[in-house]
Amino acid sequence: MGKRDKKQRHQPRRAAFHYTEEDEEGVGDGHYEGHSASKHTLSEEEEEEEEEEEEVDGKEEADEYPSNDLPSKFLLYQQSVQSPKGDISYLQKFFLMYVGGRLPLHLQEDFCGTALLSAEWLRTDTRRTAVGLDLDVEALNWCMENNINKVGADGYSRMSLFHGNVLQPLEAKLVEFEPQELIRKVSLTENKDNLESDEGESTLAEGSSSPNDEKYLRNHLLPARDIVCAFNYSCCCLHQRSELVLYFKHALDALSKKGGIFVMDLYGGTSSECKLRLQRRFSNFTYVWEQAEFDIIERKTRISLHFHLQKQQKKIRHAFSYSWRLWSLPEIKDCLEEAGFQSVHFWLRKMQDSRDIRKTEGFGVGRDIKYEEIKHFQQQDSWNAYIVGVA
Ligand SMILES: C[S@@+](CC[C@H](N)C(=O)[O-])C[C@H]1O[C@@H](n2cnc3c(N)ncnc32)[C@H](O)[C@@H]1O
Repeated sequence: MGKRDKKQRHQPRRAAFHYTEEDEEGVGDGHYEGHSASKHTLSEEEEEEEEEEEEVDGKEEADEYPSNDLPSKFLLYQQSVQSPKGDISYLQKFFLMYVGGRLPLHLQEDFCGTALLSAEWLRTDTRRTAVGLDLDVEALNWCMENNINKVGADGYSRMSLFHGNVLQPLEAKLVEFEPQELIRKVSLTENKDNLESDEGESTLAEGSSSPNDEKYLRNHLLPARDIVCAFNYSCCCLHQRSELVLYFKHALDALSKKGGIFVMDLYGGTSSECKLRLQRRFSNFTYVWEQAEFDIIERKTRISLHFHLQKQQKKIRHAFSYSWRLWSLPEIKDCLEEAGFQSVHFWLRKMQDSRDIRKTEGFGVGRDIKYEEIKHFQQQDSWNAYIVGVA
C-alpha cells in the first residue's frame, strides 16, 4: 500500500509528502488530509535520535502487539498516506466529463489494500456498490473488521472484497467475514433479485452457477462497474509491459458497456529517480518514505514505509515495502490504448520541490494547487498525475 502527493499517504504516495487540502465539498478540489502534520527530510541528528527507539518489524507487528499499545500499521498507513475524499472528488469529476449522462454508482478498486477508498465511496451514497481486489489477505481482513463496519448497516452487502491477482481477477476469491456471513448472504440474495429484475447490466462470467462457486469473482453476480481505479501508484507493482496491458484489458472488461472510466495515478520528476528519504510528522507518529537507488536500466526502485511512534518509543520499520517499476506517462498511454481504451487523458500537478521540503514545516507550498488536464508539461523536481482511460 502507499501513495504520492496528496497531502499525506501511504505511500507510495510520496503524496504524503506533498500537501493538498481535503475538499469536503466535492468535485474539483482534490486532496487533502485532516491531519496536522509537517514533513521534511531526516537530518543526521534525527536519524541518530531515532535509532535509540526499539524497532519492530512491520510483518510481526500485528501478531506481537495486538493490544492498543501499538496501532495497526494499516491504521497508520490510512492516516498518513491516503486521502479518499480527494480521490473520489476527482473520480466523480472525470466520470462527469468523459462519460456523463448518469451518476457513477459502481466502483472497482483494484490493488485496494484495506479498501479505504471503497468504504468512503459507500459511506457517502447508499446506492453505491464497491468491489475491492488485492493480493494481501491480511489487509482485506483488516478492512472487513475496521472499515466496512463504519459504512453503515448495509456495508457488507454493498462491498465485495476479493483476494487475488489483478492479472487473473476471475480467479480471485471472495473474502468472507464470519460474524456477518449470515447477514451478508441474505443481503446478497436480495441484491441478486434486484440485479436480475433490473434492466441494468451485471457481469457474470460463463460457467457453473453452483452456490459454492460464488466464492470466485468469475461466478459472482456484480453490477457492471462505472469506474475502475488503481491508486497509490499500484500499477508500478506490475513490472512487465505485457502484464500492464493484460491488467488494463481486465479493467476494461469490468467496465459498463454504457461507458466507464479507468483511473490510476503515477508520480515522477527528477527527485523520483534517485535515493531519497522523506518524513512527515503527525501528532502521534512520524511517517517515513524511503526510496532506494533508482536503476535506470529497468526503471526500478524499492519503496519502504516506516512509522516511528513517539509515545511508545517504537519504530515499525518496513511496515510496507514495494518493488516498483516507475512507468512513464507515454508508456501508460500506449498500454491503455493497446488494451482497447478509446482515449487517455493526463491530469497533472507539480508537487513541492523535495529540496524545499527539507526546510518546510506544516502545510504551505502547494496546498492550493489543483490537478489540470494537460497535453504538455515540463519536467519538474516532483509531479503527480491522474491518468484517465475512457472505455
Ligand atoms: C501501493 S499499495 C496501494 C494500496 C491502496 N490502493 C492505496 O491507495 O493505498 C499496493 C497494493 O497492491 C497490492 N498488489 C500488488 N500486486 C498485486 C497484484 N498483482 N494483484 C493484486 N494486488 C496486488 C498489494 O498487496 C498492496 O495492497
